[in-house]
Amino acid sequence: MMEGGTRSRARAEKVVEFFGEGSTYMDAPYVWEARRAALEVLGVDPSEKRILDVGCGDGSISLPWAGRAASITLVDLSPSMLRRAREQLADAPKENVEILEGDFTKIDVGKGYDLVLCLGVLAHMESLERAVSQLASFLRRGGELVIQLTDAERALGNLLYRRGQRAARRTHGYEILRLGTTAVIAACEREKLMFERLHRFSFLLPGMGRLPGRLVRAIELASVRIRAFQPFVTDALILFRKGNGA
Ligand SMILES: C[S@@+](CC[C@H](N)C(=O)[O-])C[C@H]1O[C@@H](n2cnc3c(N)ncnc32)[C@H](O)[C@@H]1O
Repeated sequence: MMEGGTRSRARAEKVVEFFGEGSTYMDAPYVWEARRAALEVLGVDPSEKRILDVGCGDGSISLPWAGRAASITLVDLSPSMLRRAREQLADAPKENVEILEGDFTKIDVGKGYDLVLCLGVLAHMESLERAVSQLASFLRRGGELVIQLTDAERALGNLLYRRGQRAARRTHGYEILRLGTTAVIAACEREKLMFERLHRFSFLLPGMGRLPGRLVRAIELASVRIRAFQPFVTDALILFRKGNGA
């Protein structure tokens, strides 16, 4: 069930359309393989943690942690994405996994989490500041937040942002947010989410969709590990910790 006012519901419906059946995102498994590899390099440890994955997509990032985490709560607006997450759970049922459908800024997703993931989601929000304030409220003091974004402060990241912006505007009728690491870190620090570390990766440039999937996967995974890629990569994965006074 989606909740919220008419204006936000309208936007939520457009985001659902963007990530619906047939979206290119759905059938590009190397995207989340690279994100998982980058989480590993960043040193994110899910063991025994209560995890909240907002905008979880099909759950491919956090569901593989179900055996190690204390619990995993998946939240997404898109029924198609959550259908896929439920299919994955049907193959290997996990009692410590909960799936919630709706806008994470509007529904009750719980509080006191040890680790919150917000990967590839912030660009689709109406306000960076409001979203970050809500993410902070889900964490216990000392808990960790991981944000992934396409960094429009970099030339190639800006190119991808402009492409995504055209697609969202023309096809789905909404504006995506232009995000940069500096602005996101500043917004988080205002909410007492203290910057810990960052890892840059991803090299999915326009036109690469025409290359064989195996090659794109190899390039994407190499972008996570190989230093020579660093000046050109487009995305950032940033780890924050909720500090005192938050
Ligand atoms: C680019 S996908 C990322 C999926 C996953 N986090 C990953 O990294 O593979 C963004 C997801 O965020 C979801 N989303 C966007 N805004 C949301 C909101 N306000 N509440 C819940 N989910 C949202 C979309 O439906 C979509 O599944």
